[in-house]
Amino acid sequence: MAANVLQSAPAQTYDVERVRRDFPILARHVHGKPLVYLDSAASSQRPLPVIEAVVRYEKNSHSNVHRGVHALSQEATEAFEGARDRVRRFINAHSTREIIFTRGTTEAINLVAQSYARSRFGKGDEILITALEHHANIVPWQMVCEQTGCTLKVAPIDRRGELLLDRFVELLSPRTKLVAVAHVSNALGTVLPLKRIVEAAHAHGAVVLVDGAQAVPHSRVDVRALEADFYAFSSHKLYGPTGIGVLYGRDSLLEAMPPWQGGGDMIRTVTFERSTYNDLPWKFEAGTPNMSGAVGLAAAMDYVDELGLDAIAGHEQHLLKVATSELTRIPGIEIIGTAAHKASVLSFTMTGVHPHDIGTILDAEGVAVRTGHHCAMPVMEFFEVPATARASFGCYNTVEEVGKLVAALQKVREVFG
Ligand SMILES: Cc1ncc(COP(=O)(O)O)c(C=O)c1O
Repeated sequence: MAANVLQSAPAQTYDVERVRRDFPILARHVHGKPLVYLDSAASSQRPLPVIEAVVRYEKNSHSNVHRGVHALSQEATEAFEGARDRVRRFINAHSTREIIFTRGTTEAINLVAQSYARSRFGKGDEILITALEHHANIVPWQMVCEQTGCTLKVAPIDRRGELLLDRFVELLSPRTKLVAVAHVSNALGTVLPLKRIVEAAHAHGAVVLVDGAQAVPHSRVDVRALEADFYAFSSHKLYGPTGIGVLYGRDSLLEAMPPWQGGGDMIRTVTFERSTYNDLPWKFEAGTPNMSGAVGLAAAMDYVDELGLDAIAGHEQHLLKVATSELTRIPGIEIIGTAAHKASVLSFTMTGVHPHDIGTILDAEGVAVRTGHHCAMPVMEFFEVPATARASFGCYNTVEEVGKLVAALQKVREVFG
């Protein structure tokens, strides 16, 4: 790597070696090489405090929640509901009534699609998304369109991967009932101008859902400041366990929405004639929830708060800058997604080499990147590529690892000429 790039340092002091020691998996070797994990956008690794919180819960406190008078059930309930309050504080929601635990971002968006949109929308109504959405923020709306006769509109992006805000605003009209946008694109790294999107959508009377899966690990999200109506994210991209995520929803909206799934916990009374439903947030949490996941997510939030989201973001931005500058020097590499404001996601192609071949050679060097369409096929189509390779950085990555990525890519270049 170029010496000037290696020497440049992030603004704040950030002890990445100390952070790395918290993540046991990073000590692993893969194919005889030290693991270089550059796939945190797909799923981040878990630090010891998260692993230990889950183990502690499983060893000492597990029982089913909400329905027991015995000590363990009460402990489990306290842990689970305590985790909900931790989430509320993390995103600055007004009340725990607004925090629904889901399996992840995907389920959170489907909940809004099926409960909010399906029960209200009809012919002539429109849902507006953008051209850079993950499939999780496209397909649920297509399903609602099929179910209700409403129409899906798509706001375009430019060749840098930025939303064309003027075009987005032009597409808003009194017909627009819901706007569903990513906070950060997983395929391109683009950070969307959310404040302006929310303001414009609200000015047209539309409700806004934000897919925050890729934003929450990299920036402080304050749902009250954003004024979004719904905000969805997954624990496993925020250094927490898989199988748990969050739907934040404005109390007044959630209160008026019908339940989505039926079963235990979401009811108040059941007879064969009719059932009545529980209060928020449990109305949307049918069945036994993922208690240990919630406990792990709360621990992950404590962990990132202790490191400081600003410090994490500063460190990642430095890695992104170094990696972007270095990859640009490798012949044949094209970076897909060059927005002015990006999170730490670096998608690229290399002339004459299929991204899967890039990924395979990198893997042999111990470097884990993701290759494929990243669940964003329309983005691939727009950039006229079948797939990209994507390196994504988390709180534990180092400039040295960026160097290993670059060296491995130079090997790919040599193999393919
Ligand atoms: C932008 C975005 N939205 C939604 C999702 C879906 O998240 P999950 O699979 O955790 O539900 C992802 C996952 O990659 C994502 O990056």
